[in-house]
Amino acid sequence: MSSNERYAFGLRAIHWAVVGLVAAAYALAEFRGWFPRGTPIRSAMMPLHFWAGIGVLLLLLPRVGLRLKHGVPAIVPPLATWERALSMLTHVALYTFLLVQPVLGVMILWSEGRGIPVPFTDIVLAPWFAPGAAIEDVAEDLHKLLATIFYWVIGLHIAAAVYHRFVRKDNVLQRML
Ligand code: HEM
Ligand code: HEM
Repeated sequence: MSSNERYAFGLRAIHWAVVGLVAAAYALAEFRGWFPRGTPIRSAMMPLHFWAGIGVLLLLLPRVGLRLKHGVPAIVPPLATWERALSMLTHVALYTFLLVQPVLGVMILWSEGRGIPVPFTDIVLAPWFAPGAAIEDVAEDLHKLLATIFYWVIGLHIAAAVYHRFVRKDNVLQRML
């Protein structure tokens, strides 16, 4: 391995911030059942879930902008064709998830006529429009389905990072640190 070039600082910062936000969004939704309804912690969990997800969405635009501006550092040694194809497929899936999953979440709330509550306050951001009841079921089913599918896709992405670091011994992981 001879290239020390890393992703641009902003891209690395956003990558790891998004990892934290996605983990928080999952944990807040999955573990909410541990706390009885009406307790302060339970009441805060879903609003915090919403904002972790909205944070992911807001960071997508600067992320794509920085990615287009700075490009990707070279991988040393270069990837085989199948490795390049699989990583491109996984990255496209991850980017799609970062856009679609939060939008579906907002659609669930708006189609139920609910706004987005600001955690620890009585403020609720009003819906921009009401997509209609038919959207609600679809958005909810898809939000849950994508949440399950992406446990596996994110798992594959992490397995790939381990494969690059310890099996292939290339610079893929170091470029993102
Ligand atoms: C990366 C972003 C997100 C991830 C990974 C995510 C993941 C999840 C997961 C795992 C659940 C639990 C599903 C279940 O109970 O089977 C859930 C439920 C939910 N999420 Fe998200 N979510 C994200 C963003 C959002 C956003 C931005 C909103 C709204 C602003 C939102 C609104 C909801 C709602 C309303 C539910 C409850 C659905 C129900 O049980 O009826 N989510 N989400
Ligand atoms: C929520 C979890 C995660 C999401 C959504 C995510 C998303 C992404 C995306 C979209 C890229 C593509 C960057 C590009 O356009 O070139 C990427 C690259 C990368 N990620 Fe993640 N990531 C996650 C977790 C992780 C974790 C836990 C690790 C390390 C163990 C990791 C290591 C990397 C590395 C090394 C790259 C560079 C890969 C390359 O350029 O070929 N990611 N990630």
